[in-house]
Amino acid sequence: MDMVVLVMMKVGVCIVNRMKSKKDEVAFASNGVSKKVKLLFTTNYKFVLRLIVEMNVYQEASKYPSASTSKLVLVVGGTGGVGQIVVASLLNRDIKVRLLLRDPEKATKLFGEQDEEKLQVCKGDTRNQEDLDPSILEGVTHVICCTGTTAFPSRRWDGDNTPERVDWDGVRNLVSILPSTLKRFVLVSSVGVTKSNELPWSIMNLFGVLKYKKMGEDFLCDSGIPYTIIRPGRLTDGPYTSYDLNTLLRATAGERRAVLIDQGDKLVGEASRLVVAEACIQSLDIDFTEGEIFEINSVQGDGPGSDPQKWKELFDAARTK
Ligand SMILES: NC(=O)c1ccc[n+]([C@@H]2O[C@H](COP(=O)([O-])OP(=O)(O)OC[C@H]3O[C@@H](n4cnc5c(N)ncnc54)[C@H](OP(=O)(O)O)[C@@H]3O)[C@@H](O)[C@H]2O)c1
Repeated sequence: MDMVVLVMMKVGVCIVNRMKSKKDEVAFASNGVSKKVKLLFTTNYKFVLRLIVEMNVYQEASKYPSASTSKLVLVVGGTGGVGQIVVASLLNRDIKVRLLLRDPEKATKLFGEQDEEKLQVCKGDTRNQEDLDPSILEGVTHVICCTGTTAFPSRRWDGDNTPERVDWDGVRNLVSILPSTLKRFVLVSSVGVTKSNELPWSIMNLFGVLKYKKMGEDFLCDSGIPYTIIRPGRLTDGPYTSYDLNTLLRATAGERRAVLIDQGDKLVGEASRLVVAEACIQSLDIDFTEGEIFEINSVQGDGPGSDPQKWKELFDAARTK
């Protein structure tokens, strides 16, 4: 018999034995997941079966393994392509999220009405030091920063929101207020940042995006804060504008689910935003990704999905190459 089912049966029997009223609600804990299970059946036997079915359905629907609920992750850039997936995936794992957004109203549109215990929203523009009151980091255990703007002039630069201001000033401002107790700062950067003077990167860098991203990276590396830097290739899938939480959670990378991870700014290709978001979240729990820089690509084939062990192996293989 499946081990999980066996354990659940034992717990189920144990709960039933202690119940006074079979209509009570009981807190059920397994693998760190707390779930309220309503007793709907009159016999112990039926209850246990129901419990097993519910837990199996729950595990199917969740797709993601549960993670520690003691985390509070500040996501900066949570309305962007990668950021939206990061937030949706964290919420789906029951991890508490705080958002730092220029426009807090976007949070409700994207992620719906959420319990404040689960999703908190702070208003702030990373370019403005005065917006970054250290109180926004109160209780925060981890930060994922996926801010960015376009590499070339566009409407997204309106109001001086240029790569210099977002990727350099913004990242520097943010890193400058991090508490020394922070467990990890994950920064989404880009492939090519160490080669911004070489073709074809020099074209991408015409307005300095790679240079400023590298300056942001260097500032973080020198800060003493435990960090992981993820450098994606050209991003695909999304950005999922006008999407909501449920739709975000159903997004897939299609055929390109396999993941390449390397170090030394050697990879060039494309990276699915879904895979980049997953890499950020997985790296929070992998000790040896601390102080490391990884580049990431998506390719055709089966991928690690949200399996922590597979991600661990991918990061480890890149590190020890
Ligand atoms: N596009 C590519 O092919 C590519 C390749 C490699 C790396 N990257 C990098 O990967 C990262 C994620 O890319 P993406 O396409 O998912 O991002 P995106 O959709 O462009 O989202 C950018 C996010 O940054 C936020 N932001 C911009 N300026 C800000 C500011 N001054 N203060 C606070 N927040 C600000 C935006 O918030 P608002 O809602 O307020 O605008 C948005 O949430 C970026 O760093 C990007 O440069 C991209």
